Amino acid sequence: MDGNGRWATQRGLARLEGHRQGAENIERLLDTLFFYKIPVVSLYAFSTENWRRPQSEVKGLFSLLNEFLEKKLPVFHEKKIQLRVSGELTRLPARSRKAIEKAIEETKSYRRLVANFCINYGAHYEICRAAVLACRDLLCEKDKIRPNLFERYLYTAGLPPVDLLIRTGGQKRLSNFLLYQIAYAELYFTDVLWPDFSPGHLEEALVEYNKRTRKFGGLVTEERDSSS
Ligand code: IPE
Ligand code: MG
Repeated sequence: MDGNGRWATQRGLARLEGHRQGAENIERLLDTLFFYKIPVVSLYAFSTENWRRPQSEVKGLFSLLNEFLEKKLPVFHEKKIQLRVSGELTRLPARSRKAIEKAIEETKSYRRLVANFCINYGAHYEICRAAVLACRDLLCEKDKIRPNLFERYLYTAGLPPVDLLIRTGGQKRLSNFLLYQIAYAELYFTDVLWPDFSPGHLEEALVEYNKRTRKFGGLVTEERDSSS
């Protein structure tokens, strides 16, 4: 969800206003996700590297998170959305952690859509952590090198791999996001800044995704047919 800061600066507003507008934008996209029966959406809200930002912005982001959870939890209930979080919560302000834990607990039975918020998330840390946890469970023997066993130790355990990754805001990089889970994801980059990313833009990304041929390292059906 990149581009909040620039969106605000372009309007002569404080960066935090861009983040606020960005958070509001999530709800605007829900109907499109429901319409296309998307089962899981992961939202990169705060990375392990975002601590490098000025303290005032970091503080602002976490108070915005508290505000968001308080305001939107009824929406999660009403729309039967399960909230999940991927990331290291121990470093978060206690109030945010408590609000997150409450929202996870209250929505855990909902199945319509899983909204996986990546907060204090970094793929490098996630993978290192998973390796240590797997070893702790004595999965460090050579015959235990099995992706399906390892995946249980990622924050995203139980979620499907990523099909489509959308990055808004014009940069063409992955910024330590779900690096394990995107092995065969289709990548979609757009210059649109996150607060401006509308249901129409999301639909455009989905249309583009539908045009792609996914092979997962194999051959497409026609190629296989013609060679056999
Ligand atoms: C992304 O928007 C949101 C977060 C990292 C929380 P940015 O804050 O990176 O926005 P730009 O890139 O400065 O426009
Ligand atoms: Mg940015």
